[in-house]
Amino acid sequence: REEADVEHNPIDLYRSYISTELSKISGVDASLIYPALETSISKDSADLNLPVPRLRAKGGKPQELAAKWAEEFPKNLVEVAANGIFLRFNFIGSSLTKLVLPMIWNQRKEFGRNESAKGKVAVIEFSSPNIAKPFHAGHLRSTIIGSFLSNLHESQGWKVHRVNYLGDWGKQFGLLAIGFKRYGNDKELEENPMRHLYDVYVKINADATAEEEKIQQESAEAESKGVPYTPFATLHDKAREFFRHMEAGDEQSLKIWSRFRELSILKLKETYERLNIEYDEYDGESQVSLPFMDEMTDLLKQKNLVEQDNGALLIDLAKFDKKLGKAVVRKSDGATLYLTRDIGTAVKRYEKYHFDKSIYVVASQQDMYFAQLFKIFELMGFEWAKKCVHINYGLVQGMSTRKGKAIFLDDIMEVAKEEMHKVMQNNEEKYSQIENPEEVADIVGKTAIRIQDSTGKRINNYAFDWSRMTSFEGDTGPYLQYAHSRLSSVQRNVDFTDEQMKNADLSLITEPDAYELVRLLGQYPDVLKSAFRFQETSTVVTYLFKLTHAVSKLYDILWVKGREENLQLARLALFGAAKQVLNNGMRLLGLTPLERM
Ligand code: ARG
Repeated sequence: REEADVEHNPIDLYRSYISTELSKISGVDASLIYPALETSISKDSADLNLPVPRLRAKGGKPQELAAKWAEEFPKNLVEVAANGIFLRFNFIGSSLTKLVLPMIWNQRKEFGRNESAKGKVAVIEFSSPNIAKPFHAGHLRSTIIGSFLSNLHESQGWKVHRVNYLGDWGKQFGLLAIGFKRYGNDKELEENPMRHLYDVYVKINADATAEEEKIQQESAEAESKGVPYTPFATLHDKAREFFRHMEAGDEQSLKIWSRFRELSILKLKETYERLNIEYDEYDGESQVSLPFMDEMTDLLKQKNLVEQDNGALLIDLAKFDKKLGKAVVRKSDGATLYLTRDIGTAVKRYEKYHFDKSIYVVASQQDMYFAQLFKIFELMGFEWAKKCVHINYGLVQGMSTRKGKAIFLDDIMEVAKEEMHKVMQNNEEKYSQIENPEEVADIVGKTAIRIQDSTGKRINNYAFDWSRMTSFEGDTGPYLQYAHSRLSSVQRNVDFTDEQMKNADLSLITEPDAYELVRLLGQYPDVLKSAFRFQETSTVVTYLFKLTHAVSKLYDILWVKGREENLQLARLALFGAAKQVLNNGMRLLGLTPLERM
């Protein structure tokens, strides 16, 4: 049963009111009416709609009942009209204004939030880049979506643990260690570990490829001469050897690896901070031990789930679900895989957090992989298997910087900042008034990136477009920041206290366009609920743009300067409430709203 959240949600308050009143008239239980009252975002729909047949009321055809009830319904808070089998309720602007604006002024930063999920725990894993490989567009999306979902869960009362699951294990770390001996540089490692390790990795990989070619050539020559050929131990052989030592817990090898890991994490922390993200845990593929994975492998064997295949161990998931195919859990030399580590990690995660929900924000290229993983949890008999959710998303096309094809998150932010700085300089007069243009450019640049990424549904691909995303025209990040700073400037030059705003005479607000804005403001808590239901960032982004458009319409209609004091107060109470809601929404998206730009 849906529960009214009348303290935090104006629409729920109306739902509650309407169901009580309609119950008196119709004799239908209020608890049946409440959930039947539907909102709709469509423009010509009413604020709340009730399909009368859903009530299964006796005493007449739905159409007749609708007409009769509409006639009898009290007219002071809502307008009621029958439309066929529907009852349409529209909130009366003046009453809505007196409800919504004080609610916003009282709750301020809390408006939109509720505690309905109090006590529930979510683990949200996102970003999860690979050390020594570039941070690519897929990681960027995961970062943006995951940080939003974390904030959103908290807004609905969840306790959230943000986890970054690094790609920090595997044979490539053997290769990297060898490469570092050849090409590494301690100073560079400390200054920019991600980039330096990547450079080293590229070089040593090139060497390894050259070796392969050499072996091929030599063996072909040997063959043509008819002499036997034994290839030398290659870099790849040595890398495998090194990784074997790592998995066996050899201290010397682990020391080298852990230095790479720790320095990378230090750097990553800075980068995430720039995006207003703080993790509770830096987990990673390395963090689950070999003995524990052996334990998991034994459990799989006990449950009769694994088969031998040339020494490797695999699970034939097709037996349970055709499209899932087979999944390898151990290589023939006993080495673990990405999948083995995810199984171990999930079990540990449940032991640690006792989550009610465990979210993995990973690109839809891994849809099949996660379907397999979750099926394996289920087959292993873990009751939390059904609490695991894969939040997937489409590709970003064409993201590159002029510096080259390998991209790091810092580069993306740096380029966005430079681009924004250029755009801002185009307006010389405004630019000269900004105190800290570099900082503003940085914030707007980050906003541009996040908004571009969050405008469409997450499952869709989108094309990365520097010039569109840094434009002030259209529904872009810079426009959103501009809208916020303009609302701030309305507030800036007047001397009213919050207490005065709270007590403003709201009956002075009468304009239909103002009511339109109030309606939107009142919807904010409901918008968060629906973003939550679909786990979609775009739900909030679309709403915020609607809000800013409704506000910009009002600047010419609701003058503040030079008006009589009470009228000024009432109008500022409205603009101030709009600023608050925009601010709350932007912060939920992980943005830093600007007061001036
Ligand atoms: N590091 C992986 C990649 O870059 C993503 C990790 C996703 N999370 C997981 N639990 N498998 O593709």
